[in-house]
This record gives sequence, C-alpha cells and structure tokens, in this order.
Amino acid sequence: MSWFYRAVVRPLLFARDSEEVHNFTLRALEYVSRRAVLCEALEAACGTPGLPVEVFGLRFPNPVGLAAGMDKHATAVPAWEALGFGFSELGGVTWHAQPGNPAPRLFRAMADGALVNRMGFNNPGAEALALKLEQWRASGRWPKHPVGINLGKSKTTPLDRAAEDYASSFRRLWPLADFFVVNVSSPNTPNLRQLQDKAALDEILTAVQEVNAKFSVFSNQYSVSARGHSRNTQHGTRTAPKPILVKVAPDLSFDALDEILALAGPRRLAGILATNTTLARPTTSDPRLQTVYAEAGGLSGRPLRQRSTEVIRHLHRQTKGALPIIGVGGIFDAADAWEKITAGASLVQVYTGLVYEGPSLAKNIVRGLLDRMRERGMREPREAVGAEEEDVKRET
Ligand SMILES: Cc1cc2nc3c(=O)[nH]c(=O)nc-3n(C[C@H](O)[C@H](O)[C@H](O)COP(=O)(O)O)c2cc1C
Repeated sequence: MSWFYRAVVRPLLFARDSEEVHNFTLRALEYVSRRAVLCEALEAACGTPGLPVEVFGLRFPNPVGLAAGMDKHATAVPAWEALGFGFSELGGVTWHAQPGNPAPRLFRAMADGALVNRMGFNNPGAEALALKLEQWRASGRWPKHPVGINLGKSKTTPLDRAAEDYASSFRRLWPLADFFVVNVSSPNTPNLRQLQDKAALDEILTAVQEVNAKFSVFSNQYSVSARGHSRNTQHGTRTAPKPILVKVAPDLSFDALDEILALAGPRRLAGILATNTTLARPTTSDPRLQTVYAEAGGLSGRPLRQRSTEVIRHLHRQTKGALPIIGVGGIFDAADAWEKITAGASLVQVYTGLVYEGPSLAKNIVRGLLDRMRERGMREPREAVGAEEEDVKRET
C-alpha cells in the first residue's frame, strides 16, 4: 500500500496546491467517517495490530497518534481511528473563530520530506468545534481511542489576556475530550511563543487548572451523554481532572525547557508534547528548496527529526522519566518512532509523515515497533521508553 501511495497517489496529489489537497483529503475522510461500512473498509486496509499502552491514566490501543493541525475542525474524527491511530489530537482551536493567514500558507519542500506552514490557527472557534464534537458523539461514531484537543490563543486576544482565552476554550470543550494540550509554541501567531516564559505559562496553566478542578468535581453536571444531550444533575460525583500537557517549540534552549519543567509539579502537568514546528532552516544548495525555505512559517518533517528527538531526550533525562512525553517531529517510519520512544517518548504523533507516506503509516510504524520490541525481548512499549542507552550498549 505504501509503495502504491508513493508511486501513484502522491504524485497526483503533489501536482496540486498543498492546502487544496489537504481540504480535499479531509472532505473524503469526512465522507468515510459518516459511513460505517467505509470506516470498516478503511480499517481493514489500514488498521494496526494492538500495542496497548497506558499513559497519564488513559489507555491507548497503540502509541502512534495523529498530530494537531491536521483536523482543526473535527471533520473526520472516526476516520483517524479507522486509519489505525492510537489517538488523535484535534485543533488547534482558539476561543474566537479566525480565518488564519492569507493563502498560500502551506508549502512542500519535497526533496527534504518537509513542509513549511504559516496557517495561523485557522479554525472555527471553540464553540463551533464543541458543536461538531457533540454531533460526532450523538452519531454514535465516536472513536474508542483517546481524543485530545489542542488549545491555542486567539489572534485578537492580547498576550496579557491569554490565560482567559485558553481557559474559555477549555471550559467549553472540557467534557468533549480525554486530554488537552496547551499550545504556546506555534510560530504563526504573533508573539505566541513568548507565552512559553515561565510567568506567562504559569498564569495560563493556573487558569486552566482552576477550570479543571471545578469541572472534575461536578463532572456529571457538565457531561455529555453518548447521545449528545447534556446531563444536568445537581450533585456531581468527583471524577479525574483532564490531563493537561504543554506543547513546546524545538527552538527553546535547554534552560528554557527546564523553566517549563519547573511548572510541571506545581501546575500538575500530565506531560509535555515535544515538539512543534521550527523556525530554523537547513542549509541547501537546491534552489527549489531555497525558495520554500525562504517562506515565513514553521518547518516540519524530516529536517525537524533530530532536534525534536534532542528535546525529548533532554526532557526525559531532566525528569528521570517521571513526566510522560509525547514525541512528534519528522517521524516517517518505525525507526523514527523508535528513536523518539527510546529517547524518552511514551507516545508519538505524525503529521508531515502522513502527507509523504500515506494512509498505511500508523500500521507500518506499529508493526515495526512490535518487531523491534520482539527482537529485544520487550513485552510492553513502556520498557522501550528512554531505553536508548541500553540500545547503544547493545550495538557497540
Ligand atoms: C499545516 C500544519 C498545521 C499545524 N497546526 C498545528 C496546530 O494547530 N497546533 C499545534 O500544536 N501544532 C500544529 N502543527 C504542528 C504539528 O502538530 C507537529 O507538531 C509538527 O508538524 C511536527 O511534526 P511532523 O514533523 O510530524 O509534521 C501543524 C503542522 C502543520 C504542518
């Protein structure tokens, strides 16, 4: 299937504008998502073997997830499970709906297996996303795998009111997802990355956790039933708060990452998501790549792989493995995913790899992970997390 995608489908898709292809693909996956028989067919072709893993209190059927930005409108929620993903992260969503930056805003650097994007959080806003998610739940087609939501800041909200903006989205979306990611690392919203500063991030996490505490006490009051109707009981029972993660930029120094880690305990972070896209560019003498790399925006895909793994390794070492990490950046196959996991990631995600490698990617990665575990006599993925030192010893 992968060779067919690469040899036949990809050249046809890559002959057209990237965002046009993205929208077309999402529409096709929405069509599939609405029909059980098509979801089953997709699952038969792309479904992954089981490789269950439990992280921050959630059970994932396998550790390979869909990264944020692919499905900002929750267009194809059931399809991500049919494509074999062990979890999906929807959004980024902001409190206010916004169109994002003017097109063109998504570019392929084909020879490098990369993308440059400056989408700028184009999204329908938290309210519209919530309604869409409620529709999926009411349809009975809600996936069995964990679903996360990526929260961003509205462009029109000034930085000093960012905490309120994130908390408003979180409040509306709280009952509708299993975990949430505070995204302060997108390069495409002016000054957003300043929110990675300890004091600013502390304010946002405090506001979000206040909402979390309130809702987890009275969760029944706000919960949405499988049929999409809000239950309104007066006396809620205490349920667990939602896991909150922070997504970091690969361009942060290790010192700046340590500052963020210092908030993990006090603000009860469930984990760190590393990494977002980078502002850095590889040097190249290829004029076509030079043209793409001259575009403003964040770079993803193969050239990001190494730096994102370095960030994961650092975070894992600093926390002695105590804080779960979701690793993302340049994963195109099982070897890339294994690199992230053995550097310290408990879960991984893909975006650009899916564009270049096609719909069998999750399956191929999970199979390759199973092979690697088998070769090393490992029975559970968590035995591989941060195990690279062992691997290096074995190979030398
Ligand atoms: C077009 C595009 C849109 C993205 N939108 C978001 C977003 O809304 N929120 C976010 O946290 N990350 C976003 N990302 C970053 C990805 O989730 C991921 O962190 C990054 O692309 C690195 O992974 P990759 O190399 O597998 O693509 C986006 C990436 C791309 C290419």
